[in-house]
Amino acid sequence: MVCLAVSGLAAGEEKRVEDLLRQMTLQEKLGQMTQVDLGALKDRTDIARLGLGSVLCGGNTDPENNEPATWRRTVVQCQQLALQSRLGIPLLFGVDAVHGHNNVLGAVIFPHQIGLGATRNPRLVEETARVTAREMLATGIHWAFAPCLAVAQDPRWGRTYESYSDDPELVGQLGAAAVRGLQGGARVRTWRALACAKHYLGDGGTTEGVDQGNTECDEATLRRVHLAPYREAIRAGVGSLMASYSSWNGVKLHGHRYLLTDVLKGELGFEGFVVSDWAAIDQLSPNYKEAIERAITAGVDMVMIPNGPGQPNNYLEFLRLLAELVNEGRVAESRIDDAVRRILRTKVRLGLFERPMTPEGLLSRVGAPEHRAVARQCVRESLVLLKNERGLLPLSKRARHIHLVGQAADDLGLQCGGWTISWQGSTGAVTRAGTTLLQAVRSTVGPRTRVTYSRDLAGGTAADVIVVVLAEPPYAEMMGDRKDLSLSAEQLGLVREARASGRPVVTVLYSGRPLLLGSAWEDSDAFVAAWLPGTEGQGIADVLFGDARPTGRLPRVWPKDPRHLRSSEAAADPMFPRGFGLTYRTRGR
Ligand code: GLC
Repeated sequence: MVCLAVSGLAAGEEKRVEDLLRQMTLQEKLGQMTQVDLGALKDRTDIARLGLGSVLCGGNTDPENNEPATWRRTVVQCQQLALQSRLGIPLLFGVDAVHGHNNVLGAVIFPHQIGLGATRNPRLVEETARVTAREMLATGIHWAFAPCLAVAQDPRWGRTYESYSDDPELVGQLGAAAVRGLQGGARVRTWRALACAKHYLGDGGTTEGVDQGNTECDEATLRRVHLAPYREAIRAGVGSLMASYSSWNGVKLHGHRYLLTDVLKGELGFEGFVVSDWAAIDQLSPNYKEAIERAITAGVDMVMIPNGPGQPNNYLEFLRLLAELVNEGRVAESRIDDAVRRILRTKVRLGLFERPMTPEGLLSRVGAPEHRAVARQCVRESLVLLKNERGLLPLSKRARHIHLVGQAADDLGLQCGGWTISWQGSTGAVTRAGTTLLQAVRSTVGPRTRVTYSRDLAGGTAADVIVVVLAEPPYAEMMGDRKDLSLSAEQLGLVREARASGRPVVTVLYSGRPLLLGSAWEDSDAFVAAWLPGTEGQGIADVLFGDARPTGRLPRVWPKDPRHLRSSEAAADPMFPRGFGLTYRTRGR
């Protein structure tokens, strides 16, 4: 029986890391601490020349044509270059696979984390992460910058949908499940893939939900609300963490030695490595050398650099300045060794030295039917039924005429939201495989049921039932910060018109967060919160027609008053409390 050290490595593997570390020059050590965006690598041979530790494709960086085969070819090329370095240390390739392998055309797009929070189903979340790992590995990629462990406190934050819940316990439970799904479990000798719990610490607690803002609270609150999920993720064996752009009481997390080193690596015993966020260390000081010194000294182990030659704060500058800092004694070589040791341990735990390339011939896994089935189940369990007057739902599959209203009824991009193919996402046929709600309804009803669709109400006023589909436009990060969470006048008008027709009205809302519903609430006979369901719209039809009962429950408080949007304030008199959700008394008809 091999004894596993705290880091999960066998004693022999720890020795292997130390032997390798002893052979490394300072430049080679610094190379391992450098992660470069593929878009910044004008000359990819820099991977070999500099012994880079990692390459990423950020939200808007895709290999040409964005096909799975092209992704694999690109990743393999980068890995081959890494293996040509003097010591042949394999590369870690990372992407934001935050709701499936979502940069890649044809990949299954799962509901965003807020929807998975509504499922309250750790086993399903673990399966979702396992499927995501399978699709990532098929393209040669080992590292997902997920799960996000934000405990979003204010829905004005543009990243609320990346948070499972405003409840730290639920975030910890589902975050640990995602880590297990991606990596394979704390006790496995060789991880399946590498998870990255983010963004440490307090990203979801900023004042007024301002992205990259300031989380103002005492340490007890910071620990109770924001640190708790990281304990669960570390217990689940998470191998990497990403630091947060945000600040705690005015101090940037990327330069916070107490939280990054004393608490995370000391008190919590985190043995993995901390990667910075996208150019986040630049925010520590206008002087890049000072910024580097602060970040590395605080406990950042690998630095994510989106800039290449000719751009400010590029990876060549980073390597030169960090070497200067070590030679000047401003960054201790022991700190460098600690960072590199953590990175090497992770690569050993992933089996990268033995199998730097994932097996060939797995590309058919990307978008596989069995993966879509998992995503469809996620959609079913994520929907929250908020209203169902006179048992309008489930709808009959033998209805004479069903009319769907609203662009979102037939728009995959609105169904998927941000972080889909591109950083901000987009409307329309954003990817090539998926099912819109309109397509799903058409494939669900009987042959004699007429299903019509229009962006307005044209052709629908005589229908047996009108299904209005509303959506937030896609967004990511700070682009999604909103002061006003009200539905737009156009959206309210659509529901009002449907109500005026005198026909029963079902409203389905695609949103990254609870919104202020205004008159749409009264004008709807039934109301379903669908969050950002992803490509498998059939899961929505399954619930609307009763092939699956709605079991989703609100993962966060749904505010009522625009003056009290933060969960802690809204909870006193919410539109709905966290945990609310209706179901059907009857099965489908
Ligand atoms: C972004 C996000 C982070 C993401 C990283 C790489 O700015 O903050 O969640 O993993 O950059 O795309």
